[in-house]
Amino acid sequence: MQGKVIGQGRTAEVLEYGEGKILKLYRDDVPEEYVDLEFRFSKWVYEQGVATPQPHERVVVEGRPGIVYQQIAGPTLLQQMNRKPWLNFSGFKQMAGLHYSLHQLEGMGEAGAQKKQLEHQIIAAPMLATEEKTQILSRLAELPDGEKLCHGDFHPDNILMDDKLWVIDWMTGVRGNPAADVARSVIMFSIGALPERASMFTKGFLGFARKRLTAQYVRRYLKLSGMTLADINPWILPVAAARLVEGLPVPEKELLVREIRRHLRA
Ligand SMILES: Nc1ncnc2c1ncn2[C@@H]1O[C@H](COP(=O)(O)OP(=O)(O)O)[C@@H](O)[C@H]1O
Ligand SMILES: [Mg+2]
Repeated sequence: MQGKVIGQGRTAEVLEYGEGKILKLYRDDVPEEYVDLEFRFSKWVYEQGVATPQPHERVVVEGRPGIVYQQIAGPTLLQQMNRKPWLNFSGFKQMAGLHYSLHQLEGMGEAGAQKKQLEHQIIAAPMLATEEKTQILSRLAELPDGEKLCHGDFHPDNILMDDKLWVIDWMTGVRGNPAADVARSVIMFSIGALPERASMFTKGFLGFARKRLTAQYVRRYLKLSGMTLADINPWILPVAAARLVEGLPVPEKELLVREIRRHLRA
C-alpha cells in the first residue's frame, strides 16, 4: 500500500499511500506527542475551511509514527519556482492571500501562545550574548499579543499548488499575532537557506530574485490587511533570534546573527 517517496522535509518523509492519499512518516527524533499535536491541529484547521489537505488517520507504520493525509496532485511552490520561474511573482502574491486568509481565524484553543514560545526560544538561543538576549526579550515584551491562527513556518516548501494554493505542515502552528507570522516568513524568504535538494537553478535564481519576491509578498499582505511595515518590522528581531534554536545550517545562523545585531544597533 505504501509507495514511493514523494517528498522530504526536516521532520518527515512523505510517501504515496493508496489512491489519493499520502503517508507522512516522521523521523526517529520527532516525539510522538508532536505528531499527535500536528494531527489534531491539522484536523482543526481543515474543519475551519482552510485550504489544507484533509488529515485521515494517525497511524504507526513499521514502528514509526505517521499521519495519512489527502494527496495534493501538484508541486510545492518551491518546486514550481524551479519548473516555471516566470510564475513566481504571482505565486508569491497568492501566498500572501492564503496567509492573510488563515490569519482571519481565531487560533485553536489548545495551541501554544506565540509570545511565550518566542520567549522560551530566545532564552535557549545559541550564539547570542546574555545582554543581547535581555534586550531582545524586553523589546518582545512590548509587542502586542494576538489570538489568531498562525502557521509558524509559512514558506514555499510548505505550500502545494494545483489550481489553487494549499498550506501543509501544521506542527509549528500557534495562537498569536499575524504580524509575527509574517515577519517569520519575511526572514525565511530573504535569508533562509534553500533545501539541499533544490536545484542549482533554483538556488541561483532565488539568490537574484528573493528580495523582489519578498517585497511582492509583503506588499500584497499589507494591502490586504491594512497593516503597515511599522506593524511587521518590530517582530523581525525577536523572531530572528528565536529561529536560532532550529537545526539550521551554520551559514544561515551566521546571517541571522548579523541581522539580529543590525536590528539591535538600530
Ligand atoms: N498532502 C500532500 N500531498 C502531496 N505532497 C505532500 C503532501 N504533504 C507533504 N507533501 C510533500 O512532502 C514534503 C514534506 O512534507 P511536510 O509536511 O512539509 O514535512 P516536514 O514537516 O518534514 O517539513 C512537502 O514539501 C511536499 O513536497
Ligand atoms: Mg515542511
